[in-house]
Amino acid sequence: MDLIGFHWLDYLAFGRNVNPQEGEAILELGSGYPLHLIYSRKVGPCGRYIGFDNNKKITATSNYLLEKIGLNDHIYHAAGDAFKLDCPKGLFDKIIAVNLWTREMLLPPKKDFYERVYDTLMEGGSYHEKFLDRDQDEGVYQVCRDLKSCGFHEVTRDIVSGGYPFLHWVLQAKK
Ligand SMILES: C[S@@+](CC[C@H](N)C(=O)[O-])C[C@H]1O[C@@H](n2cnc3c(N)ncnc32)[C@H](O)[C@@H]1O
Repeated sequence: MDLIGFHWLDYLAFGRNVNPQEGEAILELGSGYPLHLIYSRKVGPCGRYIGFDNNKKITATSNYLLEKIGLNDHIYHAAGDAFKLDCPKGLFDKIIAVNLWTREMLLPPKKDFYERVYDTLMEGGSYHEKFLDRDQDEGVYQVCRDLKSCGFHEVTRDIVSGGYPFLHWVLQAKK
């Protein structure tokens, strides 16, 4: 089975949830390779889409690919640990995470992480997360609790179809 092929569909489905707008500044945590191109280019040359991943090799390859197709002036990747995110406050319209957590990492509370996300978003900004497996209900509920305890509101979660594994949790929250 061609999972990478299905994974594009995954991003296509998630892109409808993120709904990037021209001129927006968007940060993706644990971005991997630039599969987000399926929607990230919608921010246009006046916007910014920054992928952030702790794997330097993936980051370098992603930047090389983005340069090759001439989008690297406004879409690029930086290497670093999302747990130690240290950006100026209020910088981004949207922050995204796609399949960031492994099963083991998902369940324990991660309030520190979501507090950093909250601080890095501008007022009125939104956080969007997609989870790797459909059957991660407990972990997804824990993330909802973490988000609410950090001050996020309108925290909603849905099971969305599209891509691999066909059905997955998508979560959205507003600052
Ligand atoms: C399962 S992959 C998902 C990649 C991409 N979002 C996708 O869906 O194709 C998880 C990614 O998160 C990155 N990652 C894991 N822990 C991280 C951390 N603490 N900070 C930044 N990136 C991290 C990994 O290097 C990997 O690229």
